[in-house]
Amino acid sequence: MAFFEVKNLKKVFGGLTAVDGLNFALEQKEIFSIIGPNGAGKSTIFNCVNGLYTPEEGEVIFKGENLVGKRPDQVAQYGIARTFQNLELFAHMSTLDNLMLGRHIKMKTSVLGSSFLSFKRSKAAKEEMHHRRKVEEIIDFLELESSRDQFVSNLPYGKQKLVELGRALSLEPDLLLLDEPAAGLTQEEKEEMIFWIRDIRDLLGITVVLIEHNMQMVKNISDRILAINFGKPITQGTPAEVLAHPEVIRAYLGEDVNEAV
Ligand SMILES: Nc1ncnc2c1ncn2[C@@H]1O[C@H](COP(=O)(O)OP(=O)(O)OP(=O)(O)O)[C@@H](O)[C@H]1O
Ligand SMILES: [Mg+2]
Repeated sequence: MAFFEVKNLKKVFGGLTAVDGLNFALEQKEIFSIIGPNGAGKSTIFNCVNGLYTPEEGEVIFKGENLVGKRPDQVAQYGIARTFQNLELFAHMSTLDNLMLGRHIKMKTSVLGSSFLSFKRSKAAKEEMHHRRKVEEIIDFLELESSRDQFVSNLPYGKQKLVELGRALSLEPDLLLLDEPAAGLTQEEKEEMIFWIRDIRDLLGITVVLIEHNMQMVKNISDRILAINFGKPITQGTPAEVLAHPEVIRAYLGEDVNEAV
């Protein structure tokens, strides 16, 4: 059985079929990329996987269960975390607090449930300390110490993208869905992002699905690639196979996808 599998996925918005007949399966610790032109249906796939949208047809199989119909918080509990194409952070909160919030579904005891006086020795306090330690580990891992106590709104865009990655990691997921993690980054930041994603797979053992327009990154980092257009699969295979496919090249309006950055 595959570690993660999307079977025959279909999502319709009014008269528009955004995703149709989509199949892919991942092995554990793969880095798998989904590419396709603007509006091809890439983000819709993630939205169907994490429970924001309910697909018209298909299955999303993870840990032996079909996740279709589950809410985003339930999908997160299964061990699937994601980042968003447009950052979804709390701008007027610190990096640390954003990561703590990212972890809140793991917290069993509500801090609000205990009075201040009983809090210090309570189960809630111990749990809070445990979560804080985990979040500090992620801040160390992504080298975000200098941004730790700053409001996210005061950080440069490249750092905000890293905080969003940290927020997803704070769930300690088994599967990480990254929607255009390099969009808007400088060349140097893009190269760093490649290192972070590799480290996430190699050091934390997390399986990654990546949506990305940056072909240099996709080519560099992916074990396999799925190319889609108009919601339908074009082809999937190794980077060399997919990026040389005539329909993939055509979908990118004749650009040489091997040159496009
Ligand atoms: N909530 C929605 N309601 C109506 N239409 C939607 C909705 N979400 C996506 N769509 C449409 O579905 C199609 C696929 O959109 P999607 O955002 O998945 O594309 P994408 O491949 O992620 O594009 P991009 O590279 O620009 O991010 C588009 O035509 C889009 O307008
Ligand atoms: Mg998108």
